[in-house]
Amino acid sequence: MSIIGPHVDLQIDGNAALVVASSSGLGKASAKALAREGANVVINGRNEDRLEEARKEVEEVATNEVVAQQGDLTDTDDITELVNTTVEEFGTIDHLVTSAGGPPSGEFLETTDEDWEHAYELLVMSVVRLAREAAPHLKEGDGGTIVTITSRTVKEAKENLVLSNSVRMGVVGLEKTLSKEFAPEVRSNTLLPGSHETSRIENLIESAIERGDYENYEEGLEDWAGNPLGRIGDPMELGDTVAFLSSPKSGYINGAALPIEGGSTESNL
Ligand SMILES: NC(=O)c1ccc[n+]([C@@H]2O[C@H](COP(=O)([O-])OP(=O)(O)OC[C@H]3O[C@@H](n4cnc5c(N)ncnc54)[C@H](OP(=O)(O)O)[C@@H]3O)[C@@H](O)[C@H]2O)c1
Repeated sequence: MSIIGPHVDLQIDGNAALVVASSSGLGKASAKALAREGANVVINGRNEDRLEEARKEVEEVATNEVVAQQGDLTDTDDITELVNTTVEEFGTIDHLVTSAGGPPSGEFLETTDEDWEHAYELLVMSVVRLAREAAPHLKEGDGGTIVTITSRTVKEAKENLVLSNSVRMGVVGLEKTLSKEFAPEVRSNTLLPGSHETSRIENLIESAIERGDYENYEEGLEDWAGNPLGRIGDPMELGDTVAFLSSPKSGYINGAALPIEGGSTESNL
């Protein structure tokens, strides 16, 4: 299906965006969509080689600047550095997009205090610290936005994912609070992805093939899809939504937690 029509200008050309955990997957797709729409973008990850590869990939679609800043989101100094770099390079921060690695899978009785503390640092405290440090800059202009990428597990607890099911709820509460406290200068929204074909999912399917759970990659993809659309998500479908939520074109959307999962969640709301 192709939709032919006038190009929608998202009106973020020349804006400054900080997209963390963006050397792969959903973060990278978000950085690409923002860069394609003309935003100046800082991308981030821990592994330098992967980050450099991602910088080249984002640059291919960018119409403005792309800067790569290595850093670990569980390190407070690295977070300060990410915010400072964005401001030094682009003068301010208009758009903050947060993502992270996924916490390990497992059942409740398999988890240790350390697992819980690490998941909380990675998934919640990284957003707390980024939002706190970026706040003065986000509030400077009249179109500041925060988009946080979490998971559909906040709506529907998934088997074998106790850390994700539990800890991510804190991010939704935080974003809802920010949508009130930082308004009207800044809008805050959360995305709740279902299965998207990122390197994380690719690796999980490859391991399942090795274990003999699937005959081939296509069978794995089909199994991961599990939604009325009958297919797994393209990361750019999430990235495009991030760009839209960062744009004044979505100016009345604030405090939302939006599922992007092909309709897989069973609940009505
Ligand atoms: N893909 C899906 O279907 C799906 C569905 C629901 C929820 N999610 C969640 O969405 C988030 C992103 O998933 P994804 O599929 O995009 O994963 P991915 O392809 O593995 O990408 C994760 C990115 O985060 C970076 N990262 C991980 N830990 C970091 C840290 N401590 N500091 C800085 N960067 C870090 C990784 O780079 P380095 O490793 O080099 O640091 C990489 O760029 C995860 O929390 C995941 O659980 C994904």
